[in-house]
This record gives sequence, structure tokens and C-alpha cells, in this order.
Amino acid sequence: MEIVTRADRPELHEAAAVVFRERWPEFVFHDNVPKRYMGRVEEYFARYDVMVLDGGSVVAGGWGVPMAWDGSADDLPPGYDDALIRAVDGREAGIEPTSLSFMAVAVGSSHDRRGMAGVVLEELARRACSDGLTHVVAPLRPTWKHRYPMVSMAEYAGWSRPDGLSIDPWIRTHQRMGARVLCPAPRSMVIEGTVAEWESWADMVFPVSREYVVPGALNLVLIDRERDRGVYVEENLWVQHR
Ligand SMILES: CC(C)(COP(=O)(O)OP(=O)(O)OC[C@H]1O[C@@H](n2cnc3c(N)ncnc32)[C@H](O)[C@@H]1OP(=O)(O)O)[C@@H](O)C(=O)NCCC(=O)NCCS
Repeated sequence: MEIVTRADRPELHEAAAVVFRERWPEFVFHDNVPKRYMGRVEEYFARYDVMVLDGGSVVAGGWGVPMAWDGSADDLPPGYDDALIRAVDGREAGIEPTSLSFMAVAVGSSHDRRGMAGVVLEELARRACSDGLTHVVAPLRPTWKHRYPMVSMAEYAGWSRPDGLSIDPWIRTHQRMGARVLCPAPRSMVIEGTVAEWESWADMVFPVSREYVVPGALNLVLIDRERDRGVYVEENLWVQHR
């Protein structure tokens, strides 16, 4: 097993993208903020983009962005999109980052449940620490939340097992690493499209205007046929690592 970064091995980018692509619902790839910012994230922050190789193949990957954050709940970005914006705009304005925000981790399905995500997170946290960043946070996308799309993140985050850990497997991975839940990220990703686009991303039909449960979505998706718009505002969960 070997850990490399995008900076070390840019040619592995495509292989890593395949690992990521297969693990997420289609609609997450249609958020406009990453479309505008990811090119610069890849250029500026390649050292926080790590891949785990097994026999030379990419089996897991994850990335984060360095951003300025004063350590208070009030100063947290509203979520994923705004963390991206803060990191890139901050870098271009010469603002010193204080924190690393983990942004995404994906493990090839053949390597699930072997602690590979933890390997990725530990490596990113180690890099943040050696670069002098004082906080490590993440706007998590809890992996079971899509099963409870009518429940608010604040309520879901409080559901725990008898051992005190979250009922959610992905929150548990972070808790086992010593992370604590901070607060919901209320407007983490916003994904808008026409009704036809949403029908194709969700592989559903939306015959009337209303809110729908969509597979893989953590919240309901609002479809407005009169305006030909579908809007999804995804709520995530801020956690802070030690
Ligand atoms: C979430 C993810 C990164 C976890 O990776 P991993 O290396 O398997 O993580 P871990 O080995 O630490 O397992 C974490 C927990 O998830 C559970 N889990 C992992 N894969 C699972 C699967 N396919 N089905 C059910 N549970 C699974 C593990 O059993 C463990 O739960 P436990 O507390 O009961 O032991 C991986 O499943 C993934 O890539 N998912 C799709 C992308 C995603 O949702 N990323 C997170 C949001 S950014």
C-alpha cells in the first residue's frame, strides 16, 4: 500500500476520478460552485489531494482545502460550496489559512470496510499539522442520511447507539478518530436544474410540482414544473477533528 498526492502523480487523476464517480449519485456532479472552482483547487491545493495505491492501482482517495477559520461556530462556512469558495478566494487574496477542511473521501467498493477512509483522513490531517494549520474540520455527507430524507440534520446527528457513537457509519469513522460534531452545515451544496435535467439525474419522473424523495439525496428535492426548475439544497454536518 502506498500513499501519493496529485502533486506527485498527476497522471493518476483519471483513475481516481473513476473511483469517486462510481460512489456518488449523479446529481452531486451538477453543483455549479465546484464547476467554477475545482480547476483552481486542483492547481493550488494538490498536496491535500491524496490517493492510496494498492499494487499500483488507485483504491481510495480524498482531498481537502486550507482555509481561514477563527475556530468559532459563527465563522464556519455554510457548507461545502462556501468552504471551496473561501479556500480559493482566500488564497488569491493572500489570506493565511488556519484550517484544513476535508472535502471528500471515496474508497473503491472492492476495498470497503477496511479502514481505508481512515488512512486517507489521517494522511490529510498529518499534512495539515505539518503545515502549521491548527484546525481540521469537515462538512460531512453522512452515508446513511439518505435513508432519512425527512429528518433534519440536527436531529439525525443526535441519534446514537448504546455505545454512544452515531448510528451513521461515516460519522462513526470520524468519531473513532476523535472528531466531535459541531453543527449542521445548512446550505452545503445547492444543485439546480431544469425538470428534464433532474429527471435524468435522478432517473425518475416528476409529474407534478412538489417535494420528492430522490435516491441518494439527503433532503427532499423541490420540483417546480411551472418555472421548469428543480432545486436541491443539501444539508451536511460540520465535525471537528482533534
Ligand atoms: C464512506 C466511505 C469513504 C467509507 O470508507 P471505508 O474505508 O469503508 O470506511 P471504514 O472502513 O472506516 O468504515 C466505516 C463504517 O462504514 C461501514 N461501511 C463501509 N462500507 C460499507 C458498505 N458498503 N455497506 C455498509 N457499511 C459500510 C463500515 O462497516 C464501518 O462501520 P462500523 O462503524 O460499523 O465499523 C466509503 O464507503 C465510500 O467511499 N462511500 C461513498 C462515498 C462517500 O459517501 N464518501 C463520504 C462522504 S464525503
